[in-house]
Amino acid sequence: MQTTNTKTNTEPNKTDKRIKLLDITMKRNHYRQDALIEILHKAQSAFGYLEPNVLEYIARGLKLPLSRVYGVATFYHLFSLKPSGVHSCVVCMGTACYVKGSDRVLTALERELGIHVGETTSDNQISLMSARCLGACGIAPAMVFDGTVIGKQDPEIAVEKVKGWQERVNGHSPLQES
Ligand code: FES
Repeated sequence: MQTTNTKTNTEPNKTDKRIKLLDITMKRNHYRQDALIEILHKAQSAFGYLEPNVLEYIARGLKLPLSRVYGVATFYHLFSLKPSGVHSCVVCMGTACYVKGSDRVLTALERELGIHVGETTSDNQISLMSARCLGACGIAPAMVFDGTVIGKQDPEIAVEKVKGWQERVNGHSPLQES
């Protein structure tokens, strides 16, 4: 029998609150295999996209072949297996973050990058995504920059971060006004 050769050997960080959210979701669904789509949806909502190690984690949790999990994740268009940009930026739009101003952070990033949430800059450098709760409500508003959850964000801090990415890649910031 053919297997999907997609194993990464990278364990998700168990202290990552998004993984804890995933654990809670799987437990709440009694690790039922027919809850796969709901769990993938939760994972995408928490991570912004479905990282390979997260798919492996779900496959182990539900005792499903990894090929089956990949099969479902790639079949449905609502799931994204990776951000298309070199860098990924996920803004949490869950309630706790929203009331602390994550909508303003998202708007500032959209304006700065010239893209909407769910899109990637034309140079394929930065993908901007949103999530519904990162499991880090205590440090709202929270964001994920290249896989690292960072809290207490505001529009200025977030915009500086993405400008830094652009500067490192291009040697200058194409976002700066001349
Ligand atoms: S609502 Fe943003 S981390 Fe929970």
